[in-house]
Amino acid sequence: MYFYGTFPEDFTWGVSSSAYQIEGGWDADGKGPSVWDNFTHVPGNIKNNDTGDVACNSYNKLEEDIYLLRALGVKNYRFSLSWPRIFPNGRNNSINSHGVDYYNRLIDGLVANNITPIVTLYHWDLPQALQDVGGWESSEMIELFDSFADFCFQTFGDRVKFWLTFNEPQVIAWASYGTGEIPPNVNNPGAAPYEVAHTLLKAHARVYHTYDDKYRASQGGVISLCLNIDWIEPKTPSNPRDLEAADRYMQFLVGWFAHPVFKNGDYPEVMKWKVGNRSELQSLPSSRLPVFTAEEREYIRGTADVFCFNTYTAKLVTHATTRLNPFSYEYDQEISTDVDSSWPTSALAGHRAVAWGLRRLLNWVKEEYGNPPTYIIENGVGIKTESDVDDHTRILYYKTYIDEALKAYKLDGVDLRGYNAWSFMDFFEWLNGYEPRFGLHEVDFDDPNRPRTPRRSAVYYAEIIRNNETHLDSWAGSRV
Ligand code: BGC
Repeated sequence: MYFYGTFPEDFTWGVSSSAYQIEGGWDADGKGPSVWDNFTHVPGNIKNNDTGDVACNSYNKLEEDIYLLRALGVKNYRFSLSWPRIFPNGRNNSINSHGVDYYNRLIDGLVANNITPIVTLYHWDLPQALQDVGGWESSEMIELFDSFADFCFQTFGDRVKFWLTFNEPQVIAWASYGTGEIPPNVNNPGAAPYEVAHTLLKAHARVYHTYDDKYRASQGGVISLCLNIDWIEPKTPSNPRDLEAADRYMQFLVGWFAHPVFKNGDYPEVMKWKVGNRSELQSLPSSRLPVFTAEEREYIRGTADVFCFNTYTAKLVTHATTRLNPFSYEYDQEISTDVDSSWPTSALAGHRAVAWGLRRLLNWVKEEYGNPPTYIIENGVGIKTESDVDDHTRILYYKTYIDEALKAYKLDGVDLRGYNAWSFMDFFEWLNGYEPRFGLHEVDFDDPNRPRTPRRSAVYYAEIIRNNETHLDSWAGSRV
């Protein structure tokens, strides 16, 4: 059922991207290699052996990108800074003025067009030189990330008023260090993700305090981190064990980072209990989940000004009773849930579109964290076809998801401030290369000029922005 209504006048509409996925120029003008550059250069790692070497060539197409953003009428543009483009070896003494200049031109261009930059400091492209000294498994990274962030605040903070430290820390911890699917490909699911997450939380808090202590008074921006949230639905809501399992899943997925930052500086009780209990069953001397000191808890608590997240889909879960093996660290087992695989994914790049899940998710965040000002930073759909003239699937996805966001705002009182579509244009989708197409703009990756063409969804989204609503008279006769 659709809800008819409008978003508030000051609602901030935008589109999002990330550096490695669109920039290209992987070794241009003195940029250093990132872990993703090296990973994609090994044949067999990425579908079709695609790489981000050229990607959308945004490094050389800055004016065109800004022109397209203007045409969409977005209020903000969320992008990320490539750390090795600014500091080729990851350290401040390796500064690359061409990289700094690129981001200055981008930010200036946005500001000149009244588009607010939302800047992510870390969207996964770690300088290889820092991985060589241990990457996020080393606590030295806290200092190094803080130096990078400090430089960025000092250099860009006169114009950038919205900062995000980490994009999807749960993915960094789990997929990079647990399953090891993505760089640096560490497969140590029992311990490494918990240790890495511990370091990421400390690094995030450190950067927040740097902003607070040195820049907030003069620059007046906000700073947060960007979580990945799938809505987790209990398979049988009348079964209390399934309800508990769903909540437990949310705590392992979201609470892992949000509970320390938005609540009390510490991990959710259920995580402490589960991981602690299973560590005990394994006769380990202490829990695999590290412990924060009282001082660290105090330091981490409250280190986000707004609540930001990305969302794509939902999952059905049940409580797992039969397969529990304390020596297996499969994520679902650690949480003691089974994800229902009879709930099929569609052709949508492995994601099932479940728009109503967004409303529940927003309400969960509201209840759990006291209705913080909330921003949806990424939401969209990847479709495995290159061109679909009427772009019906994507339009329907946006219409239904945005309508559920509107219900949460209007009917449920969720303090929703903004919505960003993922993505601005087609891009390099990590392990899946260029196959899933997420763009409001189509990019022709066979053409060296990487021309962009607006899809019909771009026209639709521009009208949503102009009207602050999804039910547009001009679209009434169309299939949406
Ligand atoms: C990431 C993006 C990615 C998107 C679609 C998010 O997890 O932040 O970089 O392209 O999902 O899979």
